[in-house]
Amino acid sequence: MSELKGKTAIVTGASRGIGGALGMALAKEGMDLVLAARGRAVLEETAAGLSRKYNVRVVPVACDVTRQGDLENLAATAIKEFNKIDALINSAGVSSQYPFQEQPLEDIARLMYTNYFGAVMLTRLMINHFIENKSGAVINITSGSTLVDPPPRNFIVYSSLKRALNAFSKGLFWELRDQGIKVTSIMPGVTDTALTGGLAEISVDRSRLMQTGVIEDAVKFALSVPANVCPLEISVINQRTPWTSPVIPYRQDHPKE
Ligand SMILES: NC(=O)c1ccc[n+]([C@@H]2O[C@H](COP(=O)([O-])OP(=O)(O)OC[C@H]3O[C@@H](n4cnc5c(N)ncnc54)[C@H](OP(=O)(O)O)[C@@H]3O)[C@@H](O)[C@H]2O)c1
Repeated sequence: MSELKGKTAIVTGASRGIGGALGMALAKEGMDLVLAARGRAVLEETAAGLSRKYNVRVVPVACDVTRQGDLENLAATAIKEFNKIDALINSAGVSSQYPFQEQPLEDIARLMYTNYFGAVMLTRLMINHFIENKSGAVINITSGSTLVDPPPRNFIVYSSLKRALNAFSKGLFWELRDQGIKVTSIMPGVTDTALTGGLAEISVDRSRLMQTGVIEDAVKFALSVPANVCPLEISVINQRTPWTSPVIPYRQDHPKE
C-alpha cells in the first residue's frame, strides 16, 4: 500500500502541465487533493475526473495566486474541507522570454506575483497549520534554469525569481527544521507543457524536452521520505534539455538573433 494513501495535498497550477500531472500522479497514489488554478471549468472537470478514476476526494478551488484574497480562500477552504493538510505543492507559474530592455513592464509584475509572491504567500498561509500538526511538506516547483550561471539570457527575470524561491525554500527548511516540516525545491529541466510551447529557443526541437513522469517521481520521493532526510533541492534534468545540456560541459545556447 502506498505510504501516501489517505494523505492530503494542495496543488496549485493543477489544471494542466506539471501541476496537472502531479495531481493525477498523487490521486493515483490514493491522496485526497485540493486543486487550484484560475480556470474554473477545466479545474472542476479535472477534479471530477480524478475523483471518479482513482476513488479519492478532490476539491477544486478557483484561485489566482497573484491575489492574496484568493490565496486566503484557498488555504481556508483546504483546511475546512479536510481538517488536516499534509502537503502544499506550489506549481502555478508563468514564463516569458525577452531581452530585458524589451520586457513589457507588466510582464515583470506578472512573473513576480505568480512565480514568487503566490508560492511564498500561500506557504505563509499554510505554515502555522503544519507547525500545529508538527508535520507537513512544502514543495516548490522552481526551475532547472537556476542551475545555469549566469542566468540564461532572455530569461533573467524568470530565472532570478526562481533562484529567489530556491533560497526562500532552503531558508524555510532551516528555520523550521525542528518542527517536522519538509521543504523541497524541485528544479525541472525544460519540460513538454503549454508553458514551453511558445518559447522560441526550444520550439525548434521538442524531442529535447522532458516529460512530466520524472517530476512526478521526484515529488513522490520528497513526500515519502522522513523529515530527517528532507531533500532540500532535487534537480530533475536530462542531458538533452536545452538549458541544462550545456551545463556539463558549460555552454549556453541562445535563441538566434
Ligand atoms: N515546463 C517547463 O519547462 C518548466 C521547467 C521548469 C519549471 N517549470 C515551472 O513549473 C511550473 C508549472 O509549469 P507548467 O509547464 O506546468 O506550465 P503550464 O502548463 O502553463 O501550467 C501552468 C499552470 O499554472 C496555472 N496558473 C498560471 N497562472 C496562474 C495564476 N495567476 N494563478 C493560479 N494558477 C495559475 C495554470 O492554470 P490557469 O491558467 O487556469 O490559472 C496552469 O494550471 C511553473 O512554476 C514553471 O515555472 C516549468
